[in-house]
Amino acid sequence: MIFIRKYVPNVLLRSISTTARLPAEDVFVHRDTTDNNANTPFEFTEPNMARIAALVQNYPVGAQRSALGPALDIVQRQMGWIPISAMHKVAEILSIPRVRVYEWATFYTMNKRRFRGKFNVKVCITTPCMIRGSDIILRAVEEATCCSVGQLSSDGMFGVDTVECQGACVNAPVFVVDDDYYEDVNVCDVYNIIQTLKCGKIPPCGPQNGRYASEPICGLTSLCECPPPPGFGVQPGLVK
Ligand code: FES
Repeated sequence: MIFIRKYVPNVLLRSISTTARLPAEDVFVHRDTTDNNANTPFEFTEPNMARIAALVQNYPVGAQRSALGPALDIVQRQMGWIPISAMHKVAEILSIPRVRVYEWATFYTMNKRRFRGKFNVKVCITTPCMIRGSDIILRAVEEATCCSVGQLSSDGMFGVDTVECQGACVNAPVFVVDDDYYEDVNVCDVYNIIQTLKCGKIPPCGPQNGRYASEPICGLTSLCECPPPPGFGVQPGLVK
């Protein structure tokens, strides 16, 4: 901790051993509300019913439960979130007990169990992003969206959440808006991206510092030559 503070003095605003508060109840626990209960109206649209039918075909007879994850993803894309009535519908379509759907829906944090705004902004706060300044990025996101972590902005446009590693640590710090990753971001990028979203446009995702992917920012330092062609290093007798 002392080592990190010494070399990265301005980016760590919280102790490395302290995890930010997660609204865990929202993820794991269901409590009936007026807009999320077993009677909340939900029907798949016709195209989405066709998608689910096609998905089920991908699995052997009797293993249609394997389509559970994609089916919930379809619910989320249709509704923007996953009400419990939709979970019941999925259980009915896949002929599985409702508890199997609850298990899936409450295990993966990518499942939105309540409305998280038109744009769900998720800021990664795990160690690599934290060391690269995720606390400052989170603050900038809260300020730019006028929305605190775990809340919705007053116009319902943004919902801000913190998440654990998004699998893009080499491009830390990272935040995600729905399906799009914004990587190598600084505070300016945050304001620009949120402003663009407010104007109804989707800003280009990926690294924001000029990198193409996760190569060194100063240019390649290894693997600089063209790779050898197929057959390289194979015994002559084995080459056709
Ligand atoms: Fe942020 Fe891995 S720690 S993407």
